[in-house]
Amino acid sequence: MLRIAMLGAGRVGQVHARSVVAHPEAELALVVDPIEAAATSLAATHGTRWSLDPQDAFEDASIDAVIIGTPTNTHTEMLARAVDAGKKVLLEKPIDLDLARIDDVWARIQAKAPFVMLGFNRRFDPSFREVKERVQQGEIGMVRALRITSRDPQPPPAAYLSASGGMFKDMTIHDFDMARFQVGDMVEVSAVASDNGLDAFREANDHAQAIITMRAVSGALVTIVDSRSCAYGYDQRLEAFGDLGSLEVGNWTATSVRSASATRTEAAGPLLNFFLERYLPAFQNELDEFVQAIKADRAPAVGFADGRAALVLAEAANESVATGRVVKVG
Ligand SMILES: NC(=O)c1ccc[n+]([C@@H]2O[C@H](COP(=O)([O-])OP(=O)(O)OC[C@H]3O[C@@H](n4cnc5c(N)ncnc54)[C@H](O)[C@@H]3O)[C@@H](O)[C@H]2O)c1
Repeated sequence: MLRIAMLGAGRVGQVHARSVVAHPEAELALVVDPIEAAATSLAATHGTRWSLDPQDAFEDASIDAVIIGTPTNTHTEMLARAVDAGKKVLLEKPIDLDLARIDDVWARIQAKAPFVMLGFNRRFDPSFREVKERVQQGEIGMVRALRITSRDPQPPPAAYLSASGGMFKDMTIHDFDMARFQVGDMVEVSAVASDNGLDAFREANDHAQAIITMRAVSGALVTIVDSRSCAYGYDQRLEAFGDLGSLEVGNWTATSVRSASATRTEAAGPLLNFFLERYLPAFQNELDEFVQAIKADRAPAVGFADGRAALVLAEAANESVATGRVVKVG
């Protein structure tokens, strides 16, 4: 049994805690959150211990691993302390909002050859994985274009926006990673963005929607279409287009029932609400990779370098929006 402490009992902490409890080879040993109501509530849900102080997880020799689901501005400190304490780490995205701080924390921990898995859960979505595997098997030949659509159902609260680091580092970071997962590293990035004339985004100096184009080392062209709101729900699609055909991942609805009437055909129910529902299997598979990689004493399928590479692309997209230029990376 891998004994895991959950650091942060907020939105993502609740998702991870469920995956840990559901995993036959993992045990939720401790929940940590400085907000007592959050810590006690999540601990009570799963019948485990709780604490207000992460030090209790780091000092507990019976705890093998920690999942860091605390706010982004605490990640590097939590990571360094966890590695110093000899814990294996699953770290939520993004590592940090600042490349220099990312490099500083790596310089501090790298001599310990730490086990750090990055929380890019979408890599473990069965459909996105299948696209990658079928591309590798040659089914569609050389991938020439990759299109990723990611639209949230509604914007986050203004307070979240102002601390989020901006759309590219907070939200599009998943799509930058998905692009690298599917077609490898990038050589150039360009982006256009709009606040849609909304005060909340203008005041946070952030975007309501954006379109990013990238060129991969492989020559593949990538388009990412992102929006912070979407009238019809959580829109998550992907298409790989190659010389011999295409592979496409569509949206998910709760069931596959389709209706027809005088006014519409092929009508489906609403899309699954948000990331918890749409990516539930991905979060569970991610946790399984964490457990299996630790058991096998091998590197995880997605690591610290992937977290850094995604942030480099986010910074390039910010630069492109600011300058109106194509930005070279890598
Ligand atoms: N992979 C994904 O799809 C995904 C989804 C949501 C959030 N995230 C990431 O997860 C992180 C948390 O986001 P969230 O939406 O769950 O935030 P949240 O605000 O809902 O929860 C964060 C929790 O951490 C607690 N916390 C603060 N400091 C702490 C500390 N020192 N030790 C322990 N707990 C502490 C807070 O009290 C809060 O309860 C962010 O980095 C975010 O980018 C990832």
